[in-house]
Amino acid sequence: AKPVRIAILGPGTVGSEVVRLLSEQGPDLAARVGAPLELAGVYVRDTSKDRGPHLPATVLTSDASALVAGADVVVELMGGIEPARTLILEAIAGGASVVTANKALLAAHGPELYEAADAANVDLYFEAAVAGAIPLVRPVRESLAGDHITRILGIVNGTTNYILDEMTRRGLSYDVALKQAQELGYAEADPTADVEGHDAAAKAAILASLAFHQRVALEDVYCEGISAITAEDVIAARETDQVIKLLAIAERTPEGVAVRVHPALVPSDHPLAGVHGAFNAVFIEAESAGGLMFYGQGAGGTPTASAVLGDLVSVARHRANGGKGPRESHYAVHDVLPIEAA
Ligand code: NAP
Ligand code: HSE
Repeated sequence: AKPVRIAILGPGTVGSEVVRLLSEQGPDLAARVGAPLELAGVYVRDTSKDRGPHLPATVLTSDASALVAGADVVVELMGGIEPARTLILEAIAGGASVVTANKALLAAHGPELYEAADAANVDLYFEAAVAGAIPLVRPVRESLAGDHITRILGIVNGTTNYILDEMTRRGLSYDVALKQAQELGYAEADPTADVEGHDAAAKAAILASLAFHQRVALEDVYCEGISAITAEDVIAARETDQVIKLLAIAERTPEGVAVRVHPALVPSDHPLAGVHGAFNAVFIEAESAGGLMFYGQGAGGTPTASAVLGDLVSVARHRANGGKGPRESHYAVHDVLPIEAA
C-alpha cells in the first residue's frame, strides 16, 4: 500500500514522545492502519539544536509550509494560536488530514477549522486536546452520538489538580508545586492558562459543543482559577473533611446550556477527592446510558502522545482504506439552546 506521509509540527513535551513512539512502534501501527507510516518531517524553529536520537537533523525542517504541503496527515503540537491556525488551514486546503492537541486554538477558532475540514472533506481529530490520555472526545462525539447528554462534570486540568493535591497532601507551597508541574511537563508553555482556569474552560467549551450539539465559545464559559487559593484555604478544607478541586461543569438545564470552571469543595469520601497528581476524572450523565465515569492521566508527554497516536491511526486508516470521521455538520447546530451568561 502507498505510505501515509506524516508531518509533525512542534517536537516539545508531547511531540517528541509522538515521534519516539512512531519510530519504536512503526511496524505495529502500520499493521493497524494497513499502510506504512512515513515521517515526512518535523517542523522546528531551530534546526541546529540537538533533539536526541529520535529527531536526527535529517528529519528536521524550518520550512513548515513546504512540509505541510507534502503531507497526508499533519500533527500540530506547537500550541498557541499562530502559526498553528494558519498551518492547520494550509494543511486542510492542501488536502491533508489534521490531528491536534491544541485546545486553546480549538476553543478560539474551532468553527473556522471544522468548517474548513468539512469543506475539504478531510479529518480533523483532537482527542488529546481534552484530558490527556483519557478517551473523552471520541466517546462524546461518537459513542454517545445516539444518546442525549445532560451533564458533564469533572477535573480536566492536570496542572491545577497536581498543585492542589501537593498543597493538600504534602503541604507544598503553591509556587513550588507549580514549578514541579512545569518540570514534569504538565503545564502549558504559559502556565497562566492552567492556574487561571483558561485551559479547563477551553476543554469545557469543546466538550459542551460536542455534547450539546451547538457552538459553545470560550466567552460563554464562566471561569475562575486557583491562583487565589492559599495554604490556609487548603487546611480549612481538610479540617472539615473536604478537599479543593478545580471543577469544569457543563449542563443542559431547562433554561439552556450552562458551562463553568471554578474551584469547589469536595467531600473527602467523594470519588473526585481521590483523583491525585495530574490525573483527571470526568462524569458524564446521559438519558439512556445513565452515569459514566472516565479516569486517567490528564497531562504529560507520554500519556498525551497515546491519544495523539490513536487519532493518527484513525485518520491514517481513512487515508489508506477510505472513510472519514464525523463532520461538524453531523453534530452541530441542530438543537440550539440558549447559553446562560458566563
Ligand atoms: P511544548 O513542550 O511547549 O512544545 C511545543 C513545541 O512546539 C516545541 O518544540 C516548540 O519549539 C514548538 N513551537 C512552539 N511555537 C512554535 C512556533 N511558533 N514555531 C515553531 N515551533 C514552535 O508544548 P507541549 O506541552 O508539548 O504541548 C503541545 C500542545 O499539546 C499544546 O497545544 C498543548 O496545549 C497540548 N497538550 C499538552 C499536554 C501536556 O501535558 N503537555 C497535554 C495535552 C495537550 P521550541 O522548542 O523551539 O520552543
Ligand atoms: N496543561 C494541561 C493540563 C495539559 O495541565 O491539564 C493537558 O491538557
